[in-house]
Order: sequence, then C-alpha cells, then structure tokens
Amino acid sequence: MEIFIGCDHAGFALKEALLNALASFGTVHDLGTKSEERVDYPDFSKRVCERVLGTPDSMGLLICGTGIGMSIAANRFRGVRAALCNDAGFSSHFARAHNNANILCLGGRLVTPEVAMESVRAFFTTPFEQGRHTGRVTKIETCAYEDDA
Ligand code: RB5
Repeated sequence: MEIFIGCDHAGFALKEALLNALASFGTVHDLGTKSEERVDYPDFSKRVCERVLGTPDSMGLLICGTGIGMSIAANRFRGVRAALCNDAGFSSHFARAHNNANILCLGGRLVTPEVAMESVRAFFTTPFEQGRHTGRVTKIETCAYEDDA
C-alpha cells in the first residue's frame, strides 16, 4: 500500500514521530510540510487528497493542530472519506470497518505519539467490512439520498 502523509506546522512534530513506524504499513510518501514554519493546512490537504485519489491501493494521513481543518479540507474532494480520530484507535477502527475511510486525520496538539500510533495501527490494518455499510458509503459518494428519490 502507498501511504501519503501531509501536515502543517502544528502537525509537524507528530508527523515526524510517526514516520518510521508508518513504514511497517506501506510505502510512505512525505508530502510536507518539512518544518515548523507556519503554512496553510489546506495546501497540504490538497496534495495528499490528489495523490490518494490518483493512486490505486493508497491511503492518506493528515495532521494539523486539531485535525479539524485537515478533515474539513480533505472532505471537499469527491472520493475522499477523511476521518478525524483523536482517540486511541476506537474511531479509526470503525472509520475503516464501517466508513471505508481512506484518509486518517489527527490533531498534533491533542494526541500523544503513543495514542496517535494506536489510531494509525487500527486505520492501516482494518479492512472495510462491506455488507450493510457498502450501500451507506455509496449514498455518500453518489449523493443518492432516500428523500430525493
Ligand atoms: C494552526 O494554528 C491550526 O489552526 C491548524 O493546525 C489546525 O488546527 C486547523 O484546524
């Protein structure tokens, strides 16, 4: 699997802390930022989203201060299902199992590297359960809602 990573200045330290461990889940592509100099998180969200959408068998990781900005920005890209998971793996497990999320968002100012690692591990190892969840994700992707029928 290809893993594309992006962060802003507030997510830089956590990204650096996770980089080595991430390599055990796939081939890691660090799309920046590469320092704590202030940058705008939407620019790095865009980089990761475009690569994830354009690369088969890939997923992404986005880190800003809270993870909120990155997740809002990423979910503007059709086909991206970005999940903000600032707990120790519960959310990221279900983001994969039920929502088929393809980008994990973390808050560098909210979670320790140890807690973040639990989210990362669950996210990059849990398969989509499919079944009843497939139709729900398809409704999101196609904007096909019952009330519109
Ligand atoms: C940067 O100060 C901060 O606003 C950003 O990292 C992120 O938390 C936005 O949602």
